[in-house]
Amino acid sequence: MTRQDAEAAMKKMLDGELGSGTQIAAEMITALAKIYDADGFLPVKSSQISGVSYKNIGEAGIEFLESLRSGDARARVRATLNPCGLDLDSWRELGFPEAFYRDQARVLDAYNALGIEMTCSCTPYLLGNCPAKGDHVAWSESSAISYANSVLGAMTNREGGPSALASALTGFTGNFGLHLEKNRIPRQSVVIRCNIESYLDFGTLGLMLGKKLGQDVPFITGLKKEHCTPENLRQLGAAMAASGAVALYHVDGVTPEAKKHAVSIKKGEITIPSMEISELDEIVDVVPAKKDVAGALKVDMVFLGCPHYSRQDVMDILEGLRGKKLHATLWIATARTVKKSILEDTDLTRQLDPRIKIVSDTCIVVCPIDALGIKSVVTNSGKAYFYLKNNESLAVVYRDTQACIESALSGTVAIGRRT
Ligand code: F3S
Repeated sequence: MTRQDAEAAMKKMLDGELGSGTQIAAEMITALAKIYDADGFLPVKSSQISGVSYKNIGEAGIEFLESLRSGDARARVRATLNPCGLDLDSWRELGFPEAFYRDQARVLDAYNALGIEMTCSCTPYLLGNCPAKGDHVAWSESSAISYANSVLGAMTNREGGPSALASALTGFTGNFGLHLEKNRIPRQSVVIRCNIESYLDFGTLGLMLGKKLGQDVPFITGLKKEHCTPENLRQLGAAMAASGAVALYHVDGVTPEAKKHAVSIKKGEITIPSMEISELDEIVDVVPAKKDVAGALKVDMVFLGCPHYSRQDVMDILEGLRGKKLHATLWIATARTVKKSILEDTDLTRQLDPRIKIVSDTCIVVCPIDALGIKSVVTNSGKAYFYLKNNESLAVVYRDTQACIESALSGTVAIGRRT
């Protein structure tokens, strides 16, 4: 599409020719393009929309969505939805209040009427909304933005929920920020001199780098290729986007744009020195009051699946738990389609302790956790840890996956990061 074609399409929408809902969306895209001094408009291949939980969006959000719906707006490109505030099938069994379910259903009805797919997952790229290298998209889930830009080589700004929705309804975004090659050039060199191997290590590193980098694009060297699995990169990006606002990173020899940027670093170097990773945990303050809680704190819930797990990730956990008795609730968050296919395997499910809950559509961060009576959580996710530790009525412990499983089995916090 030429620049003129994009402008003509936007003008039609701005003039109200496609209805007042689309007109509002076009006005939002135009206003943002103006603020950020965009170089025209770009068609987007897809949109990923956050701001779905009623806990976050509230009545004002529903009103906004309904104003778009009453103005006949509809998604013009593929648009998928982030997790909402509860599991749509099992909310009652999991203990969510009925009033919250009713409010959440109104939010989802409003998105549904706008033509947004009810995927309710933060890993849309595992569910078919997977852009190719160089595709322009408008995504607003921070972990998915990081994965799309860094691992897939697609191009998206760090959209907010409303602007990603406006892109879905118009099919366009402003051509600025990370849509421009010049802004994808790394500004910071990060040299890793310690051994980063596990899922937990990648989360710890991500939390530390997010704090140091803010919005900068880093070029990371020193990570071994065999440790940079898709799961570990998801964890790294999610944590960096939570403790900072990193929307794109390059890993030497791993990510698709690293090669062309290897020589273009402009700013100074951040070095993560050679040390035990447990020391790194202490530096970034990610294991709270370890001595006080380890071995003593009763665990209400162990949470895995942030960002949402793939089918293989879930199966890896479940296989190890066949026939074992748990003493704490274990939530494993994933997409609804994954949950459905696993629950159909009755040979597996009848060997699983009923405290194991494969949870879809939501996660522990966006659901109203206080309403579930949960007081203590152990998680292997840097991002989940980062957000949950701000909840004063919750004790949160960050452990590696094996220690999380040990905690679920014993019902108390496993001692040490690797048990
Ligand atoms: Fe996804 Fe919730 Fe984590 S939305 S990235 S599982 S905080």
